[in-house]
Amino acid sequence: MKITKICCIGAGYVGGPTMAVIAQKCPHIQVTVVDLNAERIAAWNDENVDNIPIYEPGLSAVVAEARGRNLFFSTEVDKAIDEAQLIFISVNTPTKTYGKGKGMAADLKYIELCARQIAQVAKDNKIVVEKSTLPVRTAEAIKNILDHTGNGVQFQILSNPEFLAEGTAVEDLLHPDRILIGGDTTLEGQEAIQALVDVYAHWVPASKILTTNVWSSELSKLTANAFLAQRISSINAMSELCEKTGADVNEVARAIGMDSRIGSKFLKSSVGFGGSCFQKDILNLVYIAKSYGLNEVADYWEQVIIMNDHQKRRFSTQIVQTLYNTVAAKKIAFLGWAFKKDTNDTRESAAIYVANDLINEQAQIAVYDPKVSQAKALADLDYLETRSKEANAKQLQSFASPYDACHGAHAIAVLTEWDEFKTYDWQKIYDGMQKPAFVFDGRNLLHRAEMEAIGFVYQGIGA
Ligand code: NAD
Ligand code: UGA
Repeated sequence: MKITKICCIGAGYVGGPTMAVIAQKCPHIQVTVVDLNAERIAAWNDENVDNIPIYEPGLSAVVAEARGRNLFFSTEVDKAIDEAQLIFISVNTPTKTYGKGKGMAADLKYIELCARQIAQVAKDNKIVVEKSTLPVRTAEAIKNILDHTGNGVQFQILSNPEFLAEGTAVEDLLHPDRILIGGDTTLEGQEAIQALVDVYAHWVPASKILTTNVWSSELSKLTANAFLAQRISSINAMSELCEKTGADVNEVARAIGMDSRIGSKFLKSSVGFGGSCFQKDILNLVYIAKSYGLNEVADYWEQVIIMNDHQKRRFSTQIVQTLYNTVAAKKIAFLGWAFKKDTNDTRESAAIYVANDLINEQAQIAVYDPKVSQAKALADLDYLETRSKEANAKQLQSFASPYDACHGAHAIAVLTEWDEFKTYDWQKIYDGMQKPAFVFDGRNLLHRAEMEAIGFVYQGIGA
């Protein structure tokens, strides 16, 4: 089947950038991204491309090139489903907050809604592609729903997980390490796989397009995230041991990373990983393993999360202890709120948890993040339901300038590794702070010697 019309359900961090790049690279394919969230769609359609809802380096240029030509954003879900030969499902799959599997399993209600809507609307054969990250064997459930519509339409379900990282989404999409496509081993399944391979082949070399069965593809996505997160928890576990022994975690990471079997990437010790996916996907993996009675497997992976929670908590405890065991009424400046640099996404950011711990100790949090608003930071805190909205609003304030955020502060905590933090006039910041002036560098971003030369009491992670 030659694909000329694609629909993507879900205009989020994955659907938006992924479809923008497909549209850019395949001008002959009409790509329509739909979402229930009218506000989000309106933002994608904003005349000024700088106002699109997701901040990603290079994204607004790609959108500007393709939007209105062969890339469309719309709330008309039924129409887009009806017209498309290939439908990506790219909706959110958060951790369940209720019922069986609460706090562990992936909530598939949005996925099921999509499947039901496709089943209802489709009048001709469709290829349905799982782009969202899903528990292994979800394709079976989707197929069951689609095959019971009774209108004779044939569906092929493919798994095509996304491996982009936020902050580098466009680069990752343009030059992926691999594209993974899982499908049925039947002739129809293989034809569907080929149709999707042909789309990616417009810009991805054939050697990087990997095809597998559906279950391998679904499980590979959870496995990839588990392995990546496990590296961070492993190096973070060593950071605590480094602090006790006089070893320096940066030196240890460098030393082990030069072993080509280990590799140097993803060994940066930090205040703990955040983001919408690592935690949710590992919890999901743990839940799946438990549901098959594989308790050792479940416990093994759960430890990655336990270590990460410990690392976040350890950071806030360290701040309180160092500030003479009290931060009550002390201003603590947070440089960064996003879960990593170059994104406006704050989901599961370590900053949220560190702020929550410090507010429990009655600290005043002053936030500066180049891409995150005060409203967003407060909404993140409110989501934890530790205290009332009013109480949070009294304890946290955002500033438009890092110098204002740090003025009068007892301590600075670096929570995100934004490049601009390295370029500040640190002498000026020091002059405006309470003394002794502390810096807790949760990203090992700043230079200890330079900070100490100015007069800061500097503490990094793992050194
Ligand atoms: P997101 O929350 O940013 O976007 C999901 C969008 O889907 C929302 O705008 C929501 O309104 C919309 N939606 C939900 N149900 C809908 C429905 N029935 N009809 C129409 N629209 C609907 O989520 P995201 O970060 O883009 O993640 C999507 C999926 O991709 C998740 O499964 C995630 O695990 C996976 N993933 C995310 C990343 C990432 O970096 N964020 C990377 C790889 C994979
Ligand atoms: C991650 C994966 O890298 C992507 O491949 C995957 O597609 C995506 O999850 C997903 O499934 O959602 P993302 O969460 O966007 O991407 O960003 P990462 O670069 O992986 O960073 C995640 C967190 O780990 C951030 O808080 C980051 O600061 C932290 N991190 C990363 C470290 O603390 N140390 C490192 O060495 C690397």
